[in-house]
Amino acid sequence: MAASIIDGKAFAAKVREKVAEHVSRLKADHGITPGLAVVLVGEDPASQVYVRNKGKQTVECGMQSFEHKLPVDTPEADLLALVARLNADPAVHGILVQLPLPAHMNADAVINAIDPAKDVDGFHISNVGLLGTGQKSMVPCTPLGCLMMLREQLGSLSGLNAVVIGRSNIVGKPMAQLLLGESCTVTIAHSRTKDLPEVVRRADIVVAAVGRPQMVPGDWIKPGATVIDVGINRIDVPETGKTRLVGDVDYDSCAQVAGAITPVPGGVGPMTIACLLANTVTACCRANGLAEPEGLTA
Ligand code: GUN
Repeated sequence: MAASIIDGKAFAAKVREKVAEHVSRLKADHGITPGLAVVLVGEDPASQVYVRNKGKQTVECGMQSFEHKLPVDTPEADLLALVARLNADPAVHGILVQLPLPAHMNADAVINAIDPAKDVDGFHISNVGLLGTGQKSMVPCTPLGCLMMLREQLGSLSGLNAVVIGRSNIVGKPMAQLLLGESCTVTIAHSRTKDLPEVVRRADIVVAAVGRPQMVPGDWIKPGATVIDVGINRIDVPETGKTRLVGDVDYDSCAQVAGAITPVPGGVGPMTIACLLANTVTACCRANGLAEPEGLTA
């Protein structure tokens, strides 16, 4: 039987609706408007598109958006000074420094200069440690979006076998921590994993985040498994001379076997910015000692 398709675009719209409702309540009941500052250094075209979309969706949800665009040759000390100003600004509840940074900057030093309470990316070393020890933290947006979709699809995840393919700090590792927090039995697979097809065949949940186009074929998938495809890869289509976006799983063959699957595009992608907005509201509520929005946190 063909898999059901997990519609990330529709789900992200629902998350943004919840965010907007919570923002309205914060304004009406407490006179507080959540604010998100996004810092872009340089003119990387893909980053410019991301930053524009983030700013637009932040305003659409009723929040304040602060955009800081710095030239590519900005000294690291100037960026650190801006981060310090944003840390101290009470109108800013979330800070995101767009990655990648230019080569002359130390990205770890910049990320770790952000106030962890405002670190809506969840990349600060304190948030990484809090998540790893099961304490309240800011959670990276893409894994948070994947978790929301898995909960919606499956309800309880307790006891399920989850295989995360990819061990990045941004997706693979935090995803594994979140699944462990849901009482899954978690395997992190990567490029050196032996017998990867056999490992994946045991999974009730597969999260693919390796950045290799269509790497996971349908005959690796256990019948009925839930497949979350984090990959966004542009490939050439020789027949048309054009390009198209594909994920890390081979959608057509996996959709024949899986119980549910996220498409690319329109699956995980739209959830990332929605979760950034959710994290900004969460950070704002925590900063003001108010109840956190339900259903928008890990
Ligand atoms: N560049 C691409 N994706 C992201 C993200 O989620 N956060 C940051 N800070 N930079 C990115």
